[in-house]
Amino acid sequence: MTLLSVNFPGSRRVHPNRPWEGSNMPMSPRHRLQRAWGLGLLLIVGIAAQALGAETSRQDCEKSYKPSTGQPGKDVVWVPTNDPLVTRMLEMARVGKSDLVYDLGAGDGKIAIAAAKQFGARAVGVEYNPEMAQLAQCFVRAEGVADKVKVIQGDIFETDFSAANVVTLYLLPELNLKLRPTLLKMKPGTRVVSHSFLMDDWRPDESSVSTDGSAYLWIVPADVSGKWTFKQQRGQDSFDVKLVQTFQKLSGKVGKGSDDVTNAEVRGNQVEMMFSEGDVHTRLKGELKGNRIEAQVTRNDSTSTYIGTRS
Ligand SMILES: C[S@@+](CC[C@H](N)C(=O)[O-])C[C@H]1O[C@@H](n2cnc3c(N)ncnc32)[C@H](O)[C@@H]1O
Repeated sequence: MTLLSVNFPGSRRVHPNRPWEGSNMPMSPRHRLQRAWGLGLLLIVGIAAQALGAETSRQDCEKSYKPSTGQPGKDVVWVPTNDPLVTRMLEMARVGKSDLVYDLGAGDGKIAIAAAKQFGARAVGVEYNPEMAQLAQCFVRAEGVADKVKVIQGDIFETDFSAANVVTLYLLPELNLKLRPTLLKMKPGTRVVSHSFLMDDWRPDESSVSTDGSAYLWIVPADVSGKWTFKQQRGQDSFDVKLVQTFQKLSGKVGKGSDDVTNAEVRGNQVEMMFSEGDVHTRLKGELKGNRIEAQVTRNDSTSTYIGTRS
C-alpha cells in the first residue's frame, strides 16, 4: 500500500489523514477512534493470515515429523499410494463435488487431499499414528483444502464412517475382510476402492491393473433377495421371481420354479436380470426404491413399466 504524504516546508512529513503523527498536535476523538479501528484491523488481518497458514509449506510440515516408507503402523505399515494410482482410484469411484470420501488408514492424507483438490469432494482421513495424523492435517493446510478435508486420529475399526459414500483402502487382504461386514451395511451405492487387495469372495465390480498398480472397485449392493411379484403398471401382465443374492450376484427361479433367472445382478440400487419362459424372453432393468422395484421390462419386443413388490 502506498502512503500519501504531504510535505510542509520546514516540517517533518505529515500524513494527510493522520496529522498527529510526528507532531505534538492533540488527537481528536474521531481520530482516536480511527486509529483504534486501524490497529484492530491490522491485528485481525495478521491473525487471519497466520490461521490461514498463509504460508505453511509441505516442507514446514515435515520439519517436526518426517515419516519413512515401510514404517510400522498399528495393523499395517505405511506405504503411500503413488499419485497416478490415487487419481485412478478416485476416478474409478467417480468421485465428485457431492461426495464424502473416507480414506481408512490415511497415512500422509494424500488420498483425502486429492479427493478435494482434484475432484472437489469433502474427505476425511482416519489415521492411527498420531504424528502421522498431525502431519497429514498439516499437509491439508499446506495444500489449501482445510475447508474440505480433515484427518482424524483414530482406529479404523472403532471409527464410524457410515456417512461416507466413497471409502478408499490401502490395507491388507485380512483387514479388508475384517471391514467387509461394515462396508456391506453401508448405504447401497457406496463405492469402495482398494489399492492392491481384494475382498475374498466379494468379487470387485471393476478392476484396473497397470504398471502403477492395481485398484478394485465395489459398489455396495442393496438387499433384493426374496420373492418378488412384478405387475405391469398399465396392463394386466405379471410374473413372479424368487431371488437368491450373494453380494451383487443374483440367481433365482421364475414363476413356479422351472426357469432360471440369468445375467442377474444388483449394482447399488440398480437391478438387472433376464429369463426365458418357453419362447418369451424377458429382460428387466429396475431400481429399488424403498421396498419396491420400479422396472422397465422388455418381453419379446415390447417395453413397459412394471412395479415389483416383495412378499
Ligand atoms: C499402506 S498405508 C496407506 C496410506 C494411504 N491410505 C495411501 O494409500 O497413501 C496404511 C496406513 O494405515 C495406518 N494404519 C494401520 N492400522 C491402522 C488402524 N487400525 N487404524 C487407522 N490407521 C491405521 C498406517 O499407519 C498407515 O499410515
